[in-house]
Amino acid sequence: MYRTIKLNKGYWGGKLPFKRGIIADPLQVFSDDVEKFSMSMKAFKIGHVTKHTEFKRHQKTQRFIKEWLHDISNPNILDIGASDGITSLELIKSLNSFAKYFVTDYNLMCTYFKRKGLFYFFNQLHDCFLIANEKFLFYPNDEWFFKLLFGNSIRKIQRLPHKELLLVNKELQNRSKIDSRIEIFTYNVFEAWNREKLDVIIVGNLLQPGYFTQEKIINGLTNNYNALKDQGILVIIHNEVTRMGETEKSTIYKKNFSENHLELVTHINGGVEINNLILSLKFES
Ligand SMILES: C[S@@+](CC[C@H](N)C(=O)[O-])C[C@H]1O[C@@H](n2cnc3c(N)ncnc32)[C@H](O)[C@@H]1O
Repeated sequence: MYRTIKLNKGYWGGKLPFKRGIIADPLQVFSDDVEKFSMSMKAFKIGHVTKHTEFKRHQKTQRFIKEWLHDISNPNILDIGASDGITSLELIKSLNSFAKYFVTDYNLMCTYFKRKGLFYFFNQLHDCFLIANEKFLFYPNDEWFFKLLFGNSIRKIQRLPHKELLLVNKELQNRSKIDSRIEIFTYNVFEAWNREKLDVIIVGNLLQPGYFTQEKIINGLTNNYNALKDQGILVIIHNEVTRMGETEKSTIYKKNFSENHLELVTHINGGVEINNLILSLKFES
């Protein structure tokens, strides 16, 4: 029950002596303010992966990428699992030039329906993954309880036309409309990449054991390897969250085509936990 009902920070934030169970306001997804929009992503958990992202959470890694690209003219860059694209936007703004910047995510769109003061959000498979109003959030974590509360309403709503919502911040959307080098689209890391070969692939807070099995992670890494140019880099980031706050950890690998593997370039803040796995992989030529 407690896993299903959460408190909306927009209303309860600062009113209670504890923080547990208080979640960012998902209704800020309707805001034009870029930072508020990104904050709302913390409340969007679609399947078992959250869309949590944040301004400035890849700062050290982005500094490294910028320096790496200094001698590469017109690179192609891909961000996988970019959420609302706030970190892509930061990197785009700091780069001098690039040929293509692909901002991608598997859950780039959702739909919603407002009924009796509650917003019902649905994923691309038409499953309801969040219900919210100004005070409360409801997740299908305890499925029986969620169904007990909302099963009938969801069944009624599923048959009605929903509104579409692009889960990408407005500033990036506007930029991509006037800059054809920036493309935003749905991409699943577990499928082969069939666009231009890439100089840089960024996978932030996605390919990690908390979310996927080792087999799935290897599947994703193989697709990343195949999508890279020889000598292109794969950047794996994991922002480790503890009670003390968040630490940006990342590891950068370079594709070595002749030896069919990813070689270590550098670790930032100790690197990522899947490092040994990545270095042990031999890809097919
Ligand atoms: C925790 S967020 C990370 C956002 C951003 N990269 C960052 O580090 O701040 C993970 C993102 O991966 C997306 N995602 C989940 N499964 C995916 C998949 N199979 N392929 C691509 N993206 C996926 C989620 O929708 C979510 O937006």
